[in-house]
Amino acid sequence: MSHKPAQTHFPVADFIKHRWSPRAFTSQPIEDDALRTLFEAAAWAPSAMNEQPWQFIYAHREQTEAFQKVWNCLLPGNQPWAKNAAVLVIVLARKSFSSNGADNRHYLHDVGMATANLLLQAGTMGIHGHVMGGFDLAKTQQEFGLPTDLEPATFLALGYVGTAEQLEEPFRSRELAGRSRKPLDEFVFENQLSA
Ligand SMILES: Cc1cc2nc3c(=O)[nH]c(=O)nc-3n(C[C@H](O)[C@H](O)[C@H](O)COP(=O)(O)O)c2cc1C
Repeated sequence: MSHKPAQTHFPVADFIKHRWSPRAFTSQPIEDDALRTLFEAAAWAPSAMNEQPWQFIYAHREQTEAFQKVWNCLLPGNQPWAKNAAVLVIVLARKSFSSNGADNRHYLHDVGMATANLLLQAGTMGIHGHVMGGFDLAKTQQEFGLPTDLEPATFLALGYVGTAEQLEEPFRSRELAGRSRKPLDEFVFENQLSA
């Protein structure tokens, strides 16, 4: 199993340090109870007006047809490795408030928060996830008969981390590459934005 813990300049909680986005997954399935826990964690994210604008469609790899249907909506850059996921998830975001139909300016923000909750919960259970923005929007809307108010935000590949050797290039090299982040002084400012 590969691990790519964050090399931080300041100490952060282990569950943040150890989250990363693998492309290699073992053949181990994710049990339904564990999956429910991940969605429960997502549900407890904060959201504007407690709208909870997220919805999830998932398929286990063993549900061959359903899994294939989700996988088919991914772009070619993600398909070769995402086929190894134990579970594929379509993360959907409702654009309007259910109470009055007004635009919810925060829908993608809040769905991102739910996704972060899900990924961090997963990490505590030895499960990893990989967010994908590389999917065919029109195809996803059509294949799943989505109403216009429900926007596919991202797809997720979930599973137990495998080994880089099981991947073809260029994914193998990416799996082994280091992780980095901008230094804090590039994005954190005291009192005012400075150049
Ligand atoms: C909204 C979003 C879209 C992403 N789309 C893709 C994608 O289509 N394919 C992919 O391999 N990784 C994708 N990623 C994963 C990022 O590349 C990854 O999170 C980033 O490089 C940081 O690496 P880490 O998650 O291991 O810390 C996406 C991540 C996010 C949050």
